[in-house]
Amino acid sequence: MHNLTINAERLWRELMETAAIGATPKGGICRLTLTDLDRQARDWFKQRVETLGCDVTVDDMGAMFARRPGLRVDVPPILVGSHLDTQPTGGKFDGVLGVLAAVEALRTLVEAGYETYAPIEVVNWTNEEGSRFAPALIASGVFAGVFDPEWARAQKDRTGITFGEALEAIGYRGPERCGAHPLSAFFELHIEQGPLLETEGKEIGIVTDVQGVRWFEVAIKGREAHTGATPMNLRKDALLGAARLIDRVEAIARSHAPLAVGTVGMVEVFPNSRNVVPGGVLFSVDLRHPESVVLDAMEQSLGQALRDICEPLGLEATLNKIWDNPPVHFDAGCIAAVRRAASASGFSTRDMVSGAAHDAAYIARIAPTAMIFVPCRDGISHNEAEFTSQEQCAAGAQVLLQAVLDYDRTLAEAAGHHRA
Ligand code: GLV
Ligand code: MN
Ligand code: MN
Repeated sequence: MHNLTINAERLWRELMETAAIGATPKGGICRLTLTDLDRQARDWFKQRVETLGCDVTVDDMGAMFARRPGLRVDVPPILVGSHLDTQPTGGKFDGVLGVLAAVEALRTLVEAGYETYAPIEVVNWTNEEGSRFAPALIASGVFAGVFDPEWARAQKDRTGITFGEALEAIGYRGPERCGAHPLSAFFELHIEQGPLLETEGKEIGIVTDVQGVRWFEVAIKGREAHTGATPMNLRKDALLGAARLIDRVEAIARSHAPLAVGTVGMVEVFPNSRNVVPGGVLFSVDLRHPESVVLDAMEQSLGQALRDICEPLGLEATLNKIWDNPPVHFDAGCIAAVRRAASASGFSTRDMVSGAAHDAAYIARIAPTAMIFVPCRDGISHNEAEFTSQEQCAAGAQVLLQAVLDYDRTLAEAAGHHRA
């Protein structure tokens, strides 16, 4: 192993500096994808990596790649990074840590004058969060050939603006075709977004798997009516149907305990007026589990619940699956590189399955990939209170750097290249 060490204070300073772009009064970040705030974060990233001598390529889904050449120009890059977009009530670390730790790792290599065998690239993926435009992981999904690029660009936010229009508006539709970018491997550092590392007092999570996610939109149609003049037995109350279904989503997840989770996070009520019996409801369902067969069973139960609940209430309901992201097993070689890196740096570790979805899950389909997790306080994320300490961020960045160097050495050795 090489004894290069990342600079913890510098990483922390940049995390706090960029957190000002979209800062919320409660200490978090609201930097929805493809907004002007996202543009500012992208501009910051571009400027920072250019000062390190990197060339930045932007693809036609807005994904950004900052390249530091290696000894070999014909070997595809080892990619490191994550995303700079956030949830509406996002924290300072989800995604941002993975990008800025990658920048810090790159800067450590530049300062040491260390030449890698493969080029190293730092990536910022577009619309990881899926909050403004569904589904999530849109750029990495196109990159991996999961989503059609035209379909992806046509996805609309709640105000009717398409992904493609928003991308053009911030000036980040690049010339490269998304996906036309061969990779040797991808490593993503992220906060855990759950409580396991903290509870067990472990410093580094070695992520072996990502659980599957299915997203649905449920539309319920009832009939608007006067709340004062319509007897209870003559109503078609769409919100009542939705309320019963929301309760059922929780029960479905609990019936596959302890690993299954189910959430209704978005609800729109029409016409949303105090004295109108609700005539329509649109809501989201997010189901997750590490095994596809269990997700199949959960999906089936959801469909059954829809029929059981809506028919007696005289409601029409449609269930539209808008995202199906299957469980992923990461690459054994990349996992081994992370394991050696954590052990060489002296950190305590735990193998784990990611509860959150990540761009790495799509990139794993086309290139050897693994992830590194660091703890977050009280396991809280997608929350302005999200917090990971300077020391914990630095530990993750250090393991990221060492994993990349380990993987680079493996590539060089496999090609018979020996360092002088
Ligand atoms: C991404 O943040 C997800 O897991 O939904
Ligand atoms: Mn994230
Ligand atoms: Mn997130």
